[in-house]
Amino acid sequence: MNYIGSKLKLSEFLTSSITGVVGDRLKNMVFCDLFAGTSRVGRTFKPLVNTVIANDIEHYGFSLGRHYIENNEIQDISMFLEELNSLELVKGGFIWTHYSQEGHGERQYFSDYNAAKIDTIRSAINDWYDIEYITEDIYYHLLSSLLEAADKVANTASTYGAYLKQLKKSAQEEIFLIESKFDICGKNHKMYNESANDLIYKISGDVLYLDPPYNQRQYGAYYHILNTISKAEIFEPKGKTGLPEYSKSAYCRKNEVKIAFEEIIREAKFEYIFLSYNNEGLMSETEIVDILSKYGEYSLVTTQYQRYKADTSRSHTADFSIEYLHILHKDEFKKESSHTKITKSQLGHSIKDLFTAEKDPRKMTSFMLKLTINDWKSIFDNQKLPLHIKAHIKKYFKVTKNKDLINILTTLKDSGYKTPSFEEAFSYLKNI
Ligand SMILES: C[S@@+](CC[C@H](N)C(=O)[O-])C[C@H]1O[C@@H](n2cnc3c(N)ncnc32)[C@H](O)[C@@H]1O
Repeated sequence: MNYIGSKLKLSEFLTSSITGVVGDRLKNMVFCDLFAGTSRVGRTFKPLVNTVIANDIEHYGFSLGRHYIENNEIQDISMFLEELNSLELVKGGFIWTHYSQEGHGERQYFSDYNAAKIDTIRSAINDWYDIEYITEDIYYHLLSSLLEAADKVANTASTYGAYLKQLKKSAQEEIFLIESKFDICGKNHKMYNESANDLIYKISGDVLYLDPPYNQRQYGAYYHILNTISKAEIFEPKGKTGLPEYSKSAYCRKNEVKIAFEEIIREAKFEYIFLSYNNEGLMSETEIVDILSKYGEYSLVTTQYQRYKADTSRSHTADFSIEYLHILHKDEFKKESSHTKITKSQLGHSIKDLFTAEKDPRKMTSFMLKLTINDWKSIFDNQKLPLHIKAHIKKYFKVTKNKDLINILTTLKDSGYKTPSFEEAFSYLKNI
């Protein structure tokens, strides 16, 4: 589904960055995707973790996640899809009446045929569930297939904020439902449909992934038709675009976002928090860093990626954006047994200081082996090595084995970086 802020193209960046921080422990972890949208991130992590918790305040987001995340048993829905795809059209339903040209005179969000077909299929799914012809799991699978199929034939430029005057080519195609393939793995996955700030008080886990909206665009307005299909509720559509009442997110309001965001960070019962945020967001980078640093050890990774924007002539233009992944290792949940906490003053030292302060290479080695990846990052960020050496060292951030330490030391040694204890430590490490 074409969705604002979808992390589809950033899946690899997210998996490698998150795995890089939590390592092998990921497979036993509870991972929470608190602003799930299309559930893309939860779907990516479902095969990599023990349990996924996901949530979105929008109902279509809930329906997608209830299927992709929570469904976890083999289903054969081919017979139901065949039946739905070949149902006889019934005109006069809600979508046809309010969001097709034939029914409404304007609001051409779908072709007349597709609008009537969406109504026909939606009401059959409800009836089938009511008479227990389908289970709840299959209900959400069929509903997800319908949402995705409807989105494919929507007559919009990209969101449901407006419809197009002329039926575009893809909107002229007949809607056709296909299976929405999902992974079967892990256990106890759970999808919620709540405000993130309410849910955060009720859940706990290991990795909390946050991908809130970063600008004023309210998802409830931009994707209102998907909500209407998902909820199958009757209401009085308003104005030119037929908007329902919709929930307004604090994350889309400049004067509320920081308070809402800090509440999540403060209340989160998760050891690690990862926040995706755009460089043009309502919260500045400094504001985010200030909030996160209050609650633990902060670090950042970024990536530049190409996104495509539809301009007014509807041709697609390339555009580069920087995606920030802010990382917080929350102090109160750090597993102290897995590594020794390094004090700020130790981190403040340069590598040279580290090596000269501790004369015993054995002690120094055991100290180094206890450093976490983030400790290493801070060390290298805090001291004045030439940039090309830093770049080399960054390759060896995963300091979990002696081999990696030797690599770091070799790099430094080859770069002519020497102190007497450094030399000693180097030969000591090579021999253990
Ligand atoms: C940037 S999108 C997430 C995109 C998602 N990661 C994906 O790949 O599809 C932000 C999501 O946050 C949801 N949202 C906005 N405010 C929320 C709130 N207060 N609580 C929960 N979800 C919220 C929106 O409905 C939207 O789906």
